[in-house]
Amino acid sequence: METNKTAATTAKSNADSLKKSSNSKSTVKHKKEEPLEQFFIDALKDMYWAEKAIVESLPKMRDAATTEELKEAFEDHELQTRKHISRLEKVFEETGQKAEAKKCEAMAGILKECEEIKNSTPEGTMTRDAALIIAAQKVEHYEIASYGGLVQLALTLNYNKAADLLNKTLAEEEETDEALTDVAESYINFEASREGDEEEESETAAY
Ligand SMILES: [Fe+2]
Ligand SMILES: [Fe+2]
Repeated sequence: METNKTAATTAKSNADSLKKSSNSKSTVKHKKEEPLEQFFIDALKDMYWAEKAIVESLPKMRDAATTEELKEAFEDHELQTRKHISRLEKVFEETGQKAEAKKCEAMAGILKECEEIKNSTPEGTMTRDAALIIAAQKVEHYEIASYGGLVQLALTLNYNKAADLLNKTLAEEEETDEALTDVAESYINFEASREGDEEEESETAAY
């Protein structure tokens, strides 16, 4: 997928800018009242809420999934998401802020869509897994966009350590997105496309 290729390069090119910026000493001054600083902190709070909500949602998605492969992918991502939460706590610390969550309406909506797939697809089908993968990728893409922006803001505000931490999470979100694409493309989408045919075939055979 073209979008995945583009996303995969983001964390790496950020890592290159981080190397350059790590030579210049972090000169964090008191800029708490500045609007950009305020926006950065608000965006961190938004992601802190989002990651916590994702941790709650992933076990439900695992239970809804049909294949063991997808169940495992959701389990792995739950562990990784817990790491993202503690990494964000370190970022708050780095910026001298208390870790606080602020409801992210966008993520609340995406997760609602993820959980509703259980009601809109038949249980035990590949169609359900294909739909769950797409929904989960919407989560990843929101996270990639958010962390990509946060890394750049952290660099601009001279929070180099925070930028480094955020970039690690960004790289993991990109990897998860790619892993989900691989699962979908390996066999799930193909088998999902045959589900209707198989039913028709067995109905015809019965006559
Ligand atoms: Fe995450
Ligand atoms: Fe994620």
